[in-house]
Amino acid sequence: MRELLELTEEQLEVQRMARDFALGELAPHSAAWDRDAYFEPAVVGKLGELGFLGMLLPEEHGGLGMDTVTYLLALEAISAVDASVAVLMSVHNSLPTQLLLHNGNDDQRSRYLGPMARGEMLGAFALSEPDAGSDAAALRTQAVRDGDDWLLTGTKAWVTNGNTADVIVAMARTDSPGDRKGARGIGAFIVTPDMPGFSVSKKEDKMGLRASPTVQLMFDELRVPGANLLGDPSQGFVYAMQGLDNGRLGIGAQAIGIAGAALDHAVAYAAERKQFGRPIRDLQAIQFKLATMAVRVQQARMLLYAAARAKDRGERITQFSSMAKLACSETAMFVTTEAIQVFGGYGYVRDYPVERLFRDAKVTEIYEGTSEIQRIVIARELYGPDARADR
Ligand code: CAA
Repeated sequence: MRELLELTEEQLEVQRMARDFALGELAPHSAAWDRDAYFEPAVVGKLGELGFLGMLLPEEHGGLGMDTVTYLLALEAISAVDASVAVLMSVHNSLPTQLLLHNGNDDQRSRYLGPMARGEMLGAFALSEPDAGSDAAALRTQAVRDGDDWLLTGTKAWVTNGNTADVIVAMARTDSPGDRKGARGIGAFIVTPDMPGFSVSKKEDKMGLRASPTVQLMFDELRVPGANLLGDPSQGFVYAMQGLDNGRLGIGAQAIGIAGAALDHAVAYAAERKQFGRPIRDLQAIQFKLATMAVRVQQARMLLYAAARAKDRGERITQFSSMAKLACSETAMFVTTEAIQVFGGYGYVRDYPVERLFRDAKVTEIYEGTSEIQRIVIARELYGPDARADR
C-alpha cells in the first residue's frame, strides 16, 4: 500500500501512531462498548492529546495543520479497530470545525477552535430532521430574531455526538413562513447545550456503531445569541454542503478502514480454518472470494486518496468525494458480507469481529448522504456544477 499511495515518512508515522493508539487503547474495549452501547468520554481527551481532533485545523487555531491524506490515513487506521470512535473523529474534524474555520468570524474561531482541537470541546453537526433527511433543504426548524438573539424551534435528527457535544453547528430556516426561499433560506448557528430551550429527546438504538451515540435534539425557542450566527444567514445550506464535501471523504475512510479490517480477518481465518483436510485458503472458492475482496478494497482506497489529493491541491471535490464515499461504503458492505461467508457460522456470532464490522459497515451507505444521493450528486456534476442534468 505504501508504494501504491506513495506516502511520505510523516504520513506513515501518523498512520503508525493511529494504529498503535487503536490497538492499545481501543481494541481491548471495542467489543464491550459495542455490546453495551457505551460511549467512553475519556476517548475524546485521548484523541485530543494525540492532535487527532484538530488534524485539519491550522496551527494558529491549535491544530496540526495536516493534509487531507494524512488525516484520512489516521481515520482509516482507527476505523479498522473501532468504527464508532472513527465517526466521532470524522464528524468533529470534517463538519463543525471546518464550518467554523471557513465561515466563522475571528471571535467565533478563537472561542471554539482551540478547545475543539485539543479535545476540550467536542463538536456535532445538526442538519437532518425527522422529515428532512435526503431532502435536506426541506428542513423546518425555524429561527426568528428576538432582539439581538435568535430563537430556534424544531427537532434535529440523527445527530452523531448530539448528547455529548459541547458545540453543535445547527441549520435552521431564517426565511419567513410567508416567503420561503428554499435552500437559500437557511442559516447555520453555533449551539451549545447550556442554551435555554435545548434538550436531547431520543437516543437511537442502532444496528451498528453502537458505541457512538446518535440522538434527536429538541429546540424549544432555543435562545442563541446573535454572535453565534455563522456567516451569512441565507447561506447555511451551502456551508453544510461544503462541509459534507469534506465529511464524505471521512466516511469513505471509515468505510475502507472497516473493509480492510474485514479482509485481514478473513485472510487470517482462511489460513487457520481447516475443512476437507486442509486450510480453506487452499480452496479455490475461498481464494476467489479473497481475491475479489482485495481488489475491491484497493480500488476504493485509491479513489479515496486520489480525491484527498485533489482536495489538498485546492480543487473542487464535490463529485470526487461522492465517488469516493460511494465506492468505499459499497466496498465495505460487499467485503464484510463476504468475510462473514468465509467465516461461515463463526462469522454470524460475536466470537469474531467480522460480525461487528458487518453491522458497522451498513450505515456508511446511509449517513452523510445515502448511496442514492451520492449517485445524484455524481450524475449532476457530469454536466458541470453550473449546468446540472436535472435543471
Ligand atoms: N458545494 C457548494 N454549494 C453547493 C453544494 C456543494 N457541494 N451542493 C449544493 N450547493 C448549492 C447549490 O449550488 C445551490 O445553490 P444555488 O441556489 O445558488 O443554485 C444550493 O446549494 C442548493 O443546491 P441544490 O439545488 O443542489 O439542492 P437540492 O435541494 O437539490 O439538494 C442534495 C441537493 C445533494 C440532494 C442535498 O440535499 C444532499 O446532499 N442531501 C443529503 C443530505 C445529507 O447528506 N445529509 C447528511 C446529514 S449529516 C449526518 O448524516 C449525520 C451525522 O452526524 C454523521
